[in-house]
Amino acid sequence: MQKGLKGIIAAETAISHIDGDEGKLIYRGYEINELNKYNFEEVAYLLWHGKFATDKELKHTKEELRKNRDLDQHLIEILTSLPTNMDMMSVLRTVISASGTSDFNWKPTISQAMKLTSIIPTIIAYRKRNTEGLPFIPPRQDLSHVENYLYMLNGIIPNPAQVKALESYMILTLEHGMNASTFSARVTASTESDLVSAITSAIGTMKGPLHGGAPSGVIDLLNEIALVGDAERVIRKKLDQKEKLMGFGHRVYKTHDPRSIALKETLLELVGQDEWLDLAIEVEEIAVKLLEEYKPGRSLYTNVEFYAAAIMKSIHLDPSLFTPTFTASRIVGWTAHVLEQAEDNTIYRPQSAYVGKLKNKQV
Ligand code: ACO
Repeated sequence: MQKGLKGIIAAETAISHIDGDEGKLIYRGYEINELNKYNFEEVAYLLWHGKFATDKELKHTKEELRKNRDLDQHLIEILTSLPTNMDMMSVLRTVISASGTSDFNWKPTISQAMKLTSIIPTIIAYRKRNTEGLPFIPPRQDLSHVENYLYMLNGIIPNPAQVKALESYMILTLEHGMNASTFSARVTASTESDLVSAITSAIGTMKGPLHGGAPSGVIDLLNEIALVGDAERVIRKKLDQKEKLMGFGHRVYKTHDPRSIALKETLLELVGQDEWLDLAIEVEEIAVKLLEEYKPGRSLYTNVEFYAAAIMKSIHLDPSLFTPTFTASRIVGWTAHVLEQAEDNTIYRPQSAYVGKLKNKQV
């Protein structure tokens, strides 16, 4: 028995590959650092179709993603009737679930995947503004997927640097192998349930802090260091108290997380000299040195969340939107996996080892 199925291969996939020893993440044969120059729509197409789009195919994909941005009236009614103390991930789970009309019946299609991908940013923006007592800003047809998301949140067209920063983060987090939420989506799809049910399962799984744990912990760490003004002292104290440093270490990567490297490069290119980024770089240097001292040989480096925190900060994204924004990108990976599962389906049905009683005696 392997607790948590650690190390167990649960499916074959042609969507992505993670080499934890070499620090590589590959989408459909392309290393992640090669993909940063593309936009969200291009990389989403690659993940769904297994190849880059021709100009005509890309135009069609962009049109599909744009025309599906509006929410049906019944979804708006549900959104506005949800209690204010419902968190955004629960809102997403509920509204996505309510979008499951017969249009989404088995078998899943790329067109269904695009529809769900289109409405997630609209749901997030609608809910965010609604809970703040602000009027909803309808999606715009002339903006890209990422531009439109920021526009619907703030009501102003974002500048290209903000778009690029968020787009980099989203591209780097579109897909990541057999993580818990992707596994959830595939298990649900394996019963030949519909795509909406599979994605609803995935959102529920993503909500848990052990998985969708947002970069807020990193922001707290950097804020604390900024306040005290002595990174080494703060970090030593945490390590002395056997605390984990947020934004460091990874279950799979036993070297640098390639997404962290790519995000840092994006930030250096877009933001350049900046107080917050300078602090993050200084903290990274000191923390890596101290982690080697306290945990020799464990190879602990920054993970994707470390520089994601700086990206979120640079675009002024509210921390309550970190995990929902992660969801807005990971929907592409989930739907690609459901499509793959449907193509060669076997229902998931592992076994359990009984450790209960037998006629009141322990087995
Ligand atoms: N700070 C201090 N020590 C650490 C850290 C850290 N961030 N990460 C691992 N270690 C230590 C562990 O205490 C352990 O020490 P030991 O061998 O003396 O017991 C050793 O390094 C190995 O760590 P594990 O816990 O076995 O590593 P695991 O692969 O199980 O955990 C995890 C990975 C959960 C990400 C861990 O590194 C951690 O908690 N990091 C901080 C939280 C964080 O940044 N999470 C985001 C991850 S990225 C993502 O989910 C998208």
